[in-house]
Amino acid sequence: MTTAGAQITPDSPGAATGREAPPALEVRDLVRHFPARGGVVRAVDGVSLTVGRGEVVGLVGESGSGKSTVGQCVVRLDTPTAGTVRIGGVDITRLSRRRLRPLRKDFHLVYQDPSASLDPRMTVGRIVGEPLALHRMATGDALRERVGELLSQVGLRPEVAARRPHELSGGQRQRVSIARALSVDPQLLVADEPTSALDVSVQASVLNLLADLQRDRGFGCLFITHDLAAVEFLADRIAVMYLGEIVEQAPAAELFAAPKHPYTQALLSAVPVPDPPAQRARERIVLHGDLPSPVLLKGADPKKAVGDCRFHTRCPLAVERCRTEAPQHRTLPGGRQVSCHLVGDDGTAPDAARP
Ligand SMILES: Nc1ncnc2c1ncn2[C@@H]1O[C@H](COP(=O)(O)OP(=O)(O)OP(=O)(O)O)[C@@H](O)[C@H]1O
Ligand code: SF4
Ligand SMILES: [Mg+2]
Repeated sequence: MTTAGAQITPDSPGAATGREAPPALEVRDLVRHFPARGGVVRAVDGVSLTVGRGEVVGLVGESGSGKSTVGQCVVRLDTPTAGTVRIGGVDITRLSRRRLRPLRKDFHLVYQDPSASLDPRMTVGRIVGEPLALHRMATGDALRERVGELLSQVGLRPEVAARRPHELSGGQRQRVSIARALSVDPQLLVADEPTSALDVSVQASVLNLLADLQRDRGFGCLFITHDLAAVEFLADRIAVMYLGEIVEQAPAAELFAAPKHPYTQALLSAVPVPDPPAQRARERIVLHGDLPSPVLLKGADPKKAVGDCRFHTRCPLAVERCRTEAPQHRTLPGGRQVSCHLVGDDGTAPDAARP
């Protein structure tokens, strides 16, 4: 296999300097606003997160919180309104298509619905081999051989290479998109709800496959999901999104053991615990009302619009200050990040189950 073509390295133009290898992904103050009738949709409003090399970071939050918009900006299928995205230390936020093309081998997106993301006219062999050919990493027999290896790594037989996507099951199609994404050995995989369009019976096997491949190959992964059990299984660290912002970020085990933000406490209270006495002891926190609209109406004072905690309309613990002052994103001892007025600097936190 030949390995020509540009790639992201810490020495690339724009790369961070310093001895330590830069993280697979670094997102700083990311903003994505969409124009809307009568105002602007604040889909993402100041998100910062890092995915270390070989680290899996889960991005969770309810529908409409902005998770996919973050994912789309990270892989530059969308361009942020403000902020920066660095892959392996290289700032790709505003690179032109032409300059981005050779760098695309370093980050890939696995979509929710494999049927929509795979070209129905192409054979599986071409789909999986295309990135290798595009980046001139293999041709001819070497390319065919590599495609066969990749199919076997995702648990598919070599004969599948001659089939077309519609001849495969949903689980097999998602395996094909994973093989395609990993064909060029990216530093970062963004997986946006990779199992939610699949039959429940095959979801676990695809998650296990992702976990095995990640362990063997050591790529960084931003894993976007609603499925808290999946994120607990797969992620090293978890970032919780609410209405365009990250409200809490912590190592997965710490977050599950002791969520500090009232929204995280509510989200996790819905996850079943395997131990029945612990389950009985844990109170389910029911949030009332829907996620508020992220639309900022024309003429609204943007300062006033951000002058509150976005969760205050549903927070069981909200106090007057929450309606008039946005909480700062603070880093607590141990590295957990949280934004809530009621969480102390030493990490003491109120319990949303007992307001
Ligand atoms: N192209 C667009 N134009 C206008 N608004 C958009 C656009 N894309 C997303 N939005 C809005 O931005 C917000 C965040 O959407 P996004 O799809 O990122 O949420 P999500 O967390 O991925 O939700 P889900 O869990 O349902 O996939 C939503 O209010 C959505 O309607
Ligand atoms: S700042 Fe106030 S409204 Fe926001 S999460 Fe904390 S207690 Fe709830
Ligand atoms: Mg989404």
